[in-house]
Amino acid sequence: MKKTDITDLSWDEFDELRDPREDNNGFDAVVERAVSRRGFLGGALAFGSGAAVFGTGLFTSTTAAKADGHMKFAFKPIDIATDDLVHVPEGYETKVLVRWGDALWSEAKDAYSAKTGVSVEMSDKVFGENTDGMELYEVDGATLITVNSEYVNPKINLPTEAEGTPRTADEVNLLKNLQGVTVMEVADTGHGFEVVVDSKYNRRITHETEMKIAGPLAGSDFVKTNADPEGMTVKGTMNNCGAGKTLWNTYMTCEENFNGYFGATGEHASTLGESRYGIGGEGRYAYEKFDPRFDLTQEPNEPNRHGFVTEINPADPTSMPIKRSALGRFKHENAEMVHASDGRVVVYMGDDERGEYLYKYVSTNTWAEGTSPEGIMDDGMLFAARFNDDQTGEWLALTPDATGMSADEILCFTRMAASAVQATTMDRPEWVAANPLKVEAYCALTNNKNRGVKPNAGGDDTSVNAANPRDTNNYGQIVRWTPSDENHAADTFTWDLYVMAGNPDVYDNAYAGSDNINSGNMFNSPDGMAFSSDGMLWIQTDGDYKNEGEFAGMGNNQMLIGDPETGEIARFMTVPYGAEVTGLCWSADKKTGFVGVQHPGGTWPDMGEGDKPRSSVVAFWRKDGATIG
Ligand code: FEO
Ligand code: CA
Ligand code: CA
Repeated sequence: MKKTDITDLSWDEFDELRDPREDNNGFDAVVERAVSRRGFLGGALAFGSGAAVFGTGLFTSTTAAKADGHMKFAFKPIDIATDDLVHVPEGYETKVLVRWGDALWSEAKDAYSAKTGVSVEMSDKVFGENTDGMELYEVDGATLITVNSEYVNPKINLPTEAEGTPRTADEVNLLKNLQGVTVMEVADTGHGFEVVVDSKYNRRITHETEMKIAGPLAGSDFVKTNADPEGMTVKGTMNNCGAGKTLWNTYMTCEENFNGYFGATGEHASTLGESRYGIGGEGRYAYEKFDPRFDLTQEPNEPNRHGFVTEINPADPTSMPIKRSALGRFKHENAEMVHASDGRVVVYMGDDERGEYLYKYVSTNTWAEGTSPEGIMDDGMLFAARFNDDQTGEWLALTPDATGMSADEILCFTRMAASAVQATTMDRPEWVAANPLKVEAYCALTNNKNRGVKPNAGGDDTSVNAANPRDTNNYGQIVRWTPSDENHAADTFTWDLYVMAGNPDVYDNAYAGSDNINSGNMFNSPDGMAFSSDGMLWIQTDGDYKNEGEFAGMGNNQMLIGDPETGEIARFMTVPYGAEVTGLCWSADKKTGFVGVQHPGGTWPDMGEGDKPRSSVVAFWRKDGATIG
């Protein structure tokens, strides 16, 4: 495959290219099992086998009260859209807060051009591309938003002649600078929020920013390189997908598809640890050709220094970001921190790849408001989730005894540890959100076309199970769990499916979705999720937006609001064709929401002849000034 084709792939497709596993790892046996189960079900061929095996009870569990349920939504749900605009319900207004290339400092005020994008000189002084996870902070009277720039689209950032692949070290630097994390002050000017250019809080954290590794892997042999023989200091945080806020008001940025940035310029046979994470071959952005740090033949340990949750203190622009190795190394989607009833700190985390796992971290020590969080994220236990078919579940501790791995191996090759304890393979765990009004949490399982078709990257069987009940799952579902004893730190839980996305216009089986899905609210591929303070679940999609075939009637990607009590789900926002909607936070007064529009198609939001599409953060609010968050 030509390099320019690689840059066109989604990260999900890139995983497939890196690790095509059809012909090995017991594929035949997996298919045979699925087929024989179908045989047992007689005419239920079109069903995911698990849907029938586990009964429809799971799919109606949240919706029994729907008929007499009290509709809490204070808006009229909107229709699907297929155009290049952002739509919200009647009575709401939106405004673009900041776009890729907008200046964070006045010296960069003319940095962006519709023709050439951003110059390398200005590339770390502007808002980055492909906005994702996002949190808002109030610091000494200032309002700060910290937001990820997950990746770049090289074709719109590089000159046309480059055809999407950097040709020089400068072009690599341009791409490195437009990713990472932005801290920016925003202010309500009376006409909606605006970025405060030149604020002392403004900051860009890129693939070159110095940060430290903390926790058990600090100083480990796994993370030592020529440039850092002590294994203590790393450059860059990469592929920053979802996010989270700590209980002490710092930012957690989550390193997802970090593997794609590394490549080998010479002979390099991938180790087991590398292939489990899709590391090997050619990098997506040719970094390895211009920077030895990304060349596996020269620095085989550099990838071991990425794939973490990294903590950033937005209140202090001089603070060094900290990679929290105790939370494990995988393709981190987001990090949802909660305070367990026994005082310990719990972080829920998904690993977004087909057939990977859901994790949680539990601190050893307790924490109380007003006390130092020192050590809380460095000393604790990592667990992987097992979802039993009877709707009970267990958190399996990733200890040396249970995994047969050393403590360092468990944190550096966490996926292999979760495989060793036989956690439940999931349909691409994306964001986790915890209900602020109830001790329960939700995880978006975005989709998994390989469910029941082939094993995960570690060769683990991915036959259907009760929490991931449909073969070839192109729609996704949201699983939720209630920890035992109302304690997020507990080892056991009960669970159900809050929703199974589907298309009731095309299917009349499990692919129609659960009972709370209908022609008026259908969607596919739930991804971003967050609760508002009133206990409503906001669901963002990153799925198929072609609006045809089995996705007909779903339109562009969207944001919906779900009521955890009645199961009702209503569409609140649609984003331009091609875009996903990701990242969500609210102003302190809960009157303005901020949402990310990533990789739009067309020319949104500038909409002029010859304009490039620009990933942006959009603010939305009610015209009557009422609260929404
Ligand atoms: Fe970056 Fe799994 O989304
Ligand atoms: Ca995502
Ligand atoms: Ca996604």
